[in-house]
Amino acid sequence: MRDSAPRTIYRADYQPPAFTISNVDMHVDIYDGYTLVETTLSLTRQGPAEADLVLDGEALEIEAIAIDGVGLGEASYRYADNQLNISDVPDKFQLTTRVRIYPEQNTSLEGLYRSGVMYCTQCEAQGFRKITFFPDRPDVLATYRVTVEADQKQCPVLLGNGNLVGQEQLADGRHRAVWEDPWPKPCYLFALVAGDLACVEDHFVTASGRRVDLRIYVEAKDVNYCGHGMESLKQSMRWDESVYGLEYDLDLFNIVAVDDFNFGAMENKSLNIFNTSCVLAAPNITTDASYQRIEAIVAHEYFHNYSGNRVTCRDWFQLSLKEGLTVFREAEFVSDMNSRGVKRVEDAAFLRTYQFAEDAGPMAHPVRPDSFIEISNFYTSTVYEKGAEVVRMLHTLLGHDTFMEGAKHYFKHYDGQAATCDDFVQSMEVVSGRQLDQFRRWYEQAGTPELSVETVYDAGSQRCSLVVRQCNPPRPGEGDKPPLHIPLAIGLLVDGQPVQLGEGEGEGEGTTRLLEVTEAEQRFEFDNISAPPVASLLRGFSAPVRLISDDSESTLQTLIAGDDDDFVRWDAMQRYAGRVLASIGNGQSPESGFFEAYERALCADTDPAMKALLLSLPSEAYLADSRQGNGVVDVFEIHTTREQLRMALANRFSAQWEALFNEMVVTEAYAANGDQIGRRALRHLALAYLSCLEGSEERLALPLFSEADNLTDRLAGLRVLVDGNSDALRERALTQFFD
Ligand code: BES
Ligand code: ZN
Repeated sequence: MRDSAPRTIYRADYQPPAFTISNVDMHVDIYDGYTLVETTLSLTRQGPAEADLVLDGEALEIEAIAIDGVGLGEASYRYADNQLNISDVPDKFQLTTRVRIYPEQNTSLEGLYRSGVMYCTQCEAQGFRKITFFPDRPDVLATYRVTVEADQKQCPVLLGNGNLVGQEQLADGRHRAVWEDPWPKPCYLFALVAGDLACVEDHFVTASGRRVDLRIYVEAKDVNYCGHGMESLKQSMRWDESVYGLEYDLDLFNIVAVDDFNFGAMENKSLNIFNTSCVLAAPNITTDASYQRIEAIVAHEYFHNYSGNRVTCRDWFQLSLKEGLTVFREAEFVSDMNSRGVKRVEDAAFLRTYQFAEDAGPMAHPVRPDSFIEISNFYTSTVYEKGAEVVRMLHTLLGHDTFMEGAKHYFKHYDGQAATCDDFVQSMEVVSGRQLDQFRRWYEQAGTPELSVETVYDAGSQRCSLVVRQCNPPRPGEGDKPPLHIPLAIGLLVDGQPVQLGEGEGEGEGTTRLLEVTEAEQRFEFDNISAPPVASLLRGFSAPVRLISDDSESTLQTLIAGDDDDFVRWDAMQRYAGRVLASIGNGQSPESGFFEAYERALCADTDPAMKALLLSLPSEAYLADSRQGNGVVDVFEIHTTREQLRMALANRFSAQWEALFNEMVVTEAYAANGDQIGRRALRHLALAYLSCLEGSEERLALPLFSEADNLTDRLAGLRVLVDGNSDALRERALTQFFD
């Protein structure tokens, strides 16, 4: 319960902190049922001389307060509405507070709380105020020295941020550990763990030859599930060195897996805390998708060490500065480790499904919001995923080399500081010499821009023009929204083949041209186009926009058959399938053109993971969303028409499915690498189609289920058996799976 009424905080009201803190010295004494926290802050006034010292604090029981060692009487301070107020303080002084807190009773999963065999913390965004009095805002950066004390038997492991600088046995079976973090950090990155934990150890040698100890702490029963997390960590460390030139900055990196945790994971300095589900893995209990999620989350939290920790956020309105950038870095890492095309398609699909919906609803807000009541409600897909798209657009507009130069400038120039989204864009301006004011609107303007493109061809002059229109429809209460700076990557297909347009050498690059759309309506011209082209638009999903198009079936067929951009091909297939499904709903039978396009995709020489995506019908959820026009969605119709089309594809291509099912078999022992995961995905898709046909349960699904050496195969087999016609097989399989 809060004792104060909710208050709206505005970005425009930002004021620098009245006091800075150079060092924080904490003693955390954990006892059964309560914990004592004594904190000494070294404060220096930087604001007006008359300003009171105001600190945040929530549910803290004050035991003592002193300034420069002299105790304060109760009349000398005021603690109300979650704020501690002390007047007439010196310009430079040490404040010591001793408070009592109750971690065992803390069920908010914020601050210090107990989870199973351990005590742990979660401070982002505003949890540190539940541990001690502090200016709980990200622009107060300090070094920390933390002494943790607890019962040796109950809590043999005592962890904090930074380096372990001391350990001591105490009387009464207690012990203590002293941790020092030399890197100034905001308090939301503070972490502490105490408990009965086992650990798995490894190490990493940095590019400059330093040894870093790596540890994953878990409950003893889980020590065998840490291998994948550890490998993911080492790969992330290597990747950040080789791509961004960023080397880890301490001699120790710890991960702790916790059962009760509100989020996936948290990037506390050198002491990342993970939800067990986001780090523990083994072939028998973890699907391919979860293996990939773990790899991504471990990387994400590790990458925060620079994008978030070394350079942090000035205020919570700048949340996307760290989250958007880190999601972008994570996506690039995942692309390098797996299939770039697949990752891009997955991210585009996610954004269009969830973020576009957010942008169209009552929760719509800019990537950098202007106000909030409760910051924890702002960890949204707009801040995260759209924020990452905004960073990606900078990458696209400036090109890889200039973007990397800008990123390096940003990490160097703002190191140890609390920065803003503007600072990031400014770093890109500095290295590119470009003016990005119009681009900055992406941070200010909520809503999804709509883009339409008209293709005009003049045979006489062999000239093709693309007329691009952008529209940023204002929502109720919004004024006029000026046009955005939109990178629109396009290609042109002539006689079914992409023509050379650009200067790039890389795959697909020579056939891609980047159009910079900056006006409401704009015309782009292409010469020497020998025949009417088909436009391949928004290649690689180059901007988070809604592309309004009414492409003909023949255009969709051309794109599916001949385009060299994975996203455009996949999107064309989804749209084509969507149309065919709608026509089935209207009682028509699917046209042969669709089956021909599908067959081409089926037989194309595409990597298995991408092929599996390409051949998957749009989900029922996507179909429901794309048909909301009249406000009523007929879920039954969506389901039955989709089943009809699935059946048709199964029958028509049964030989191809059978061939794929055999070809994609993995004979090596299970490994969660991109190659195997792609093969399994395609194999399981083939099985799903084959399961529409008589007899495949016993013949294909049952052996897959019973001989599987991993959960992904086992589930693929089980799914078919459960949905199948045989009650006996279903019963048997479910019992076996349960056991
Ligand atoms: N900093 C966040 C964790 C967080 C989220 C703290 C919400 C406070 C409120 C962390 O870096 C994060 O973003 N975690 C994500 C996973 C990530 C891969 C997107 C999560 O926990 O879902
Ligand atoms: Zn994050």
